[in-house]
Amino acid sequence: MSGLPQGWLKYVQELEEILAQALPSAETYPQVLHDAMRYSTLGGGKRLRALLVMGACAAVGGDVQKTGGLAAAVEMVHAYSLIHDDLPCMDDDDFRRGKPANHVKYGEAIAVLAGDALLTEAFAELARMPEKYGVPPEVTVRIVAELAHGAGSQGMVGGQAVDILSVDQLPDEQTLRYIHTHKTGALFKAALRGGALVGGATAEELEAITRYAEWFGLAFQITDDILDEVGDAQELGKPVGRDQDLEKLTYPRLYGLERSRAMAAECVQNCLDILSGFPEGAWLLRELASFVLQRSF
Ligand code: IPE
Ligand code: IPE
Ligand code: MG
Ligand code: MG
Ligand code: MG
Repeated sequence: MSGLPQGWLKYVQELEEILAQALPSAETYPQVLHDAMRYSTLGGGKRLRALLVMGACAAVGGDVQKTGGLAAAVEMVHAYSLIHDDLPCMDDDDFRRGKPANHVKYGEAIAVLAGDALLTEAFAELARMPEKYGVPPEVTVRIVAELAHGAGSQGMVGGQAVDILSVDQLPDEQTLRYIHTHKTGALFKAALRGGALVGGATAEELEAITRYAEWFGLAFQITDDILDEVGDAQELGKPVGRDQDLEKLTYPRLYGLERSRAMAAECVQNCLDILSGFPEGAWLLRELASFVLQRSF
């Protein structure tokens, strides 16, 4: 994607190739399903979750080449979550990553199924980590558990459920925090912890990466809420003003724009403080944290 910092492009390029290979080809029967899966996964998005996987691995001195399977898997889970998030029964959005949403192009039934299949294929890709990337089986099993927890009912899906259930409810801080740390934060946390595990993190490093993840996830979603109010649809590649239309519980709604911006900045500062004890290898995590605050897409 254009607009990303130059130093990230090599990693993004590698990821695109890994994803294109990991997903069944569009000629594989049933073609429309595989076409729909590839449509929403390939050639779009900022790839922040994959970059966080690689960044965490590098930060603990690991071999980034070993992260390909996990980086692809988290992007598949993310792509599935976006397909389902845009469905008429959820946020009912027609545009995503600068093109028609999956259900607009393929119909709702195929969109649901493409999301289901992407989630499943993500775990298939994780299972191939020992063979394809030399990740030890015991580390692989741990990562499977991390991603399952981050994506599941006490992670991302739990957050999405509360996001939907909170429409029309009186805003409250605790629920808002739950929504953001789960619908968005949980997958970031799994990506970061997983990347650190591939990199052979010590318990201490893993704990620091986990704290970074928590602040990063919150900063990211506060900014997402802000951009829904003040961002540009063309640049974002998705509609704006939808949270207000749908009466979603967001940071700007509860705290206003100015305070939300200050809160996001504080979260990012916390990320940078946590990394202060890390060596040069943490450059990507540092850049990602700063990017979250400045981003306009
Ligand atoms: C959008 O995430 C969905 C949320 C969790 C808010 P991103 O802004 O990372 O989406 P892409 O991958 O760049 O399209
Ligand atoms: C979506 O949050 C989070 C997930 C997809 C899990 P949003 O509904 O705020 O994301 P956008 O704004 O549509 O990208
Ligand atoms: Mg949503
Ligand atoms: Mg949405
Ligand atoms: Mg949003």
